[in-house]
Amino acid sequence: MNDHPRPEPASLRGERILLRPWRPADRAPFAAINADARVMEHFPAPLAERDSDALADRIEAHFGKHGFGPWALEIPGVTEFAGFVGLLTVSFDAHFTPAVEIGWRLAAPLWGRGYASEAAACAMHYGFTELGLPEIVSFTVPANLRSLAVMQRLGMRYDIREDFLHPRLPPEHPLRLHRLYRIGREQWMERQAP
Ligand SMILES: CC(C)(COP(=O)(O)OP(=O)(O)OC[C@H]1O[C@@H](n2cnc3c(N)ncnc32)[C@H](O)[C@@H]1OP(=O)(O)O)[C@@H](O)C(=O)NCCC(=O)NCCS
Repeated sequence: MNDHPRPEPASLRGERILLRPWRPADRAPFAAINADARVMEHFPAPLAERDSDALADRIEAHFGKHGFGPWALEIPGVTEFAGFVGLLTVSFDAHFTPAVEIGWRLAAPLWGRGYASEAAACAMHYGFTELGLPEIVSFTVPANLRSLAVMQRLGMRYDIREDFLHPRLPPEHPLRLHRLYRIGREQWMERQAP
């Protein structure tokens, strides 16, 4: 049995962004992001503070178990906490699982500057080169155009035949239909070639 504590998760640096481990001070700005109806437009509801804290707990537990997760996003010179961007194991059964998903959630005033795409490219590169993942997926509802645009900017591919009903939502829920995007390691590495 391996009872050594896991080392601190890696931090990833982009030109303008830093993906770093979570700190206790991130909780309050994270709760404000999760309470914002604009940020949560494509989720069932904004989160109360205790639910936001519980989500931060689950994110930290994911790092503890897997060594990676949705990192805290810092934009040096702009803000110490802008939200999260990172990788997580899909926690439900679907036609594409088991799989590792890439996801993002940023404070609304920071949208429209390319931070999510820059951070996601760093996380994806780490997933393929350091974690050795064969493939990364992402999914959202068809109305979440900003999130779909990030997936497309990353070079992820969509096939309508892979649309699925999110099993965590009840059968008649209006957000149940999701689009799945995928990218394989070879595809990603080809995009990095000069
Ligand atoms: C999804 C989300 C992260 C996308 O954020 P975003 O800021 O639109 O995404 P990007 O970082 O890729 O920024 C792209 C925009 O910045 C602009 N931009 C400015 N400078 C840029 C740069 N240097 N590089 C790239 N894009 C740049 C792009 O033109 C684009 O503008 P547009 O929105 O007018 O087309 C954000 O909307 C969000 O947090 N939503 C709520 C949570 C959510 O729904 N998460 C996904 C659940 S599946």
